[in-house]
Amino acid sequence: MSHLSLVSSGEPTAPRGTATSVRVEAPGKVNLFLSCGASGPDGYHELTTVFQAVRLIETVTARRQSADRSGQITLSLDEPDESVPLDERNLAYRAAALLAEHTGSRAGVDLVLRKRVPVAGGMAGGSADAAATLLACNQLWGSGLKLDELMQLARQLGADCPFPLLGGTAVGSGRGDELSPLMTRGSYHWVFALAHAGLSTPAVFARLDEMRAEQATASFAHPLATQAAPMPEELGAALRMRDTVALAACLHNDLEEAALSLRPELVDVIALAEEAGALRAIVSGSGPTIAALVPDPMTGMRVSRALEASPLVAGTVRADAPVAGSRVVG
Ligand code: C5P
Repeated sequence: MSHLSLVSSGEPTAPRGTATSVRVEAPGKVNLFLSCGASGPDGYHELTTVFQAVRLIETVTARRQSADRSGQITLSLDEPDESVPLDERNLAYRAAALLAEHTGSRAGVDLVLRKRVPVAGGMAGGSADAAATLLACNQLWGSGLKLDELMQLARQLGADCPFPLLGGTAVGSGRGDELSPLMTRGSYHWVFALAHAGLSTPAVFARLDEMRAEQATASFAHPLATQAAPMPEELGAALRMRDTVALAACLHNDLEEAALSLRPELVDVIALAEEAGALRAIVSGSGPTIAALVPDPMTGMRVSRALEASPLVAGTVRADAPVAGSRVVG
């Protein structure tokens, strides 16, 4: 499946519309591969990563405001969740504000989020909300920005924000936000083990730096010399050949060591998933969600049941991948 045509398309993503609301769906992601280099002067690390969009779908509804309230950005959830901020700390709020600033729109918007990606779980749920909001407001306000322009705005919001616009499978370089779509065949089945509490992404990157500095001191090496490795050939080949066993052998995440050092109990969650039939289980992104690749949906149910019986696991979700990027659904 290639999404290249989507990225290079010069067509506006939305006609100038008069709809009173626009509903957009955007997927969460799992990193099949993540190699982390040293951090630059901006504090960001050079990455090579392979994103795969999973069928855990965030939905953002953008509603036109009545004239007396126009100009504000408001945010609410369709199901209450105290762990999700509803002000400018929320990436969806920031996405609407950035698009308004960029286009000069003063229309305002009421945003309603329906969340299905685990919060603070290393699966880019907040980034999916930001991507969906850009697309929804672009249509609601008739801004007429093209997809590549929305992707540039998304990069300003966070390194994981452009990918949900693209979906499918893609290699990310730079901060992880310079994307090249990857041709893949077939569908892959995942079980995600959720943790009782989230992990902070900056804290995981900082822990990786600390661990590398300790290792470098012990071996008289220079920690800043670390470079992100290129995507392994075998990973691309496995995805082209729909070879799940080969894909399992290629899964890799440099952030795993750091996430496990902050949450040692995740080692047991990984072992549990693999004992129950997963081909491999790894930390998803910066964690703490554990992503278990399973050979088929039946095995997925068995792995889910085994994980849910463990007090270390707050719950599980199953999803196939890859799926398409953000799209207007209503
Ligand atoms: O871009 P985003 O806001 O999602 O990144 C969150 C944090 O993750 C950054 O502030 C940084 O600490 C870390 N990060 C990094 N290198 C990257 C991406 C993220 O150090 N390439």
